[in-house]
Amino acid sequence: MLNFEFKNPTKILFGKGEIAKLSQEVPKNAKILMVYGGGSIKTNGIYEQVKTALKDFEMIEFGGVPANPEYSVLLKALDIIKKEKITFLLAVGGGSVIDGVKFLSSAALYKGAEPWDILANSIRTYEGLPFGTVLTLPATGSEMNSSSVISRKETKQKLAMGGPGLFPVFSILDPQVIKSIPQKQIANGLTDAFTHVLEQYMTYPIGAWLQDRFAESIMQTLIEVAPKIMTDPSDYTIASEFMWCCTMALNGLIQKGVPGDWAIHSMGHELTALYGIDHARTLAIIAPSHYRYNIESKKEKLAQYAERVWNVKNGSTLEKAHEAILKTEEFFNSLDIKTKLSEYTTDFSSTGKIIEENFNQRGLKGIGEHRNLTPADVRQIVEMSF
Ligand code: NZQ
Ligand code: ZN
Repeated sequence: MLNFEFKNPTKILFGKGEIAKLSQEVPKNAKILMVYGGGSIKTNGIYEQVKTALKDFEMIEFGGVPANPEYSVLLKALDIIKKEKITFLLAVGGGSVIDGVKFLSSAALYKGAEPWDILANSIRTYEGLPFGTVLTLPATGSEMNSSSVISRKETKQKLAMGGPGLFPVFSILDPQVIKSIPQKQIANGLTDAFTHVLEQYMTYPIGAWLQDRFAESIMQTLIEVAPKIMTDPSDYTIASEFMWCCTMALNGLIQKGVPGDWAIHSMGHELTALYGIDHARTLAIIAPSHYRYNIESKKEKLAQYAERVWNVKNGSTLEKAHEAILKTEEFFNSLDIKTKLSEYTTDFSSTGKIIEENFNQRGLKGIGEHRNLTPADVRQIVEMSF
């Protein structure tokens, strides 16, 4: 196992009715900015639950954060935070709203002139305005980690930021919120969480047995709940499993002591920036090609995953590795998630070249667990995904 430090300060309140405890978690005398998305919370009862729980607090609202949280929209919320002297932020939404609030948390205390520099110059956040979350969509794990991904339409960029100052103070996870999520978003959540585990597992054997088994158990549970949650999102038992899997997939625990890949996410973010394809779907497009391209360096872990997660018993290490990639593709397809770029856009002939240039420009010379995938390799992987 590699050396590691682990600290995750986010308090989780999990279960039925936990939203009512908001008033105990928000600091007394806080002036709150409640941030939400396009309005789903107004039709599924979550908005009323939050308002009721916080009726004794001074609270201003900011709605309209879009999926793939947009910089220009967030700047309007930043104005309000400064003008109104907000002291606490509350995100009520999925990964996009939570990520948007993380950006606001950092930008509110940022001393520079242009908050975009936090993303463009990879400035880590050690102190942010405190915030909590009410999660409405299990997928990203943003509710219990310190990362955020922000989009900027004007420049077709989607960049990540983070730092120890960006953990939520608390996150409320009530699996009952899942019943109003459209099937397409549930499929996205399953695919995103599954790929988060893959990014931290599908590298090379390092002797981290427990970490491997944590990762495998999250994937096995996601595979088991997937058909059930797709058909009945109101099943509380299944919804609970789904929600906790998504949080555990990216709260830092399974990344400790093991190498991380994260190349699929780096390439996927480019596809969202260029074409607006949902985050999870970009991962399903890239993952199979990424694993085929890197089969030599990843074959041991791919074969272990084939055996332990997909019960593949026969064949050589290489044959099992190939079988694992097919099983992963079939899993995504079973959720009605397409795995080829050409199934999302007809405008793909120069995508590989554009992404190669973007990576060169940003100085991303080596990605993946060995930091040896060059922009030219990235181009080939993207082109294999057409
Ligand atoms: O905006 P509203 O009206 O609320 O509707 C949302 C949105 O349209 C809807 N929704 C959410 N909860 C619902 C609901 N509809 C009905 N009932 C509910 N209970 O779902 C749509 C998608 O929401 P969004 O927040 O965009 O989805 P997700 O949670 O998948 O977040 C995706 C974003 O997170 C980033 C992605 O890149 C993307 O920008 N990620 C963040 C990560 C992190 N911070 O650690 C890691 C991930 O890898 C990812 O990159
Ligand atoms: Zn993701």
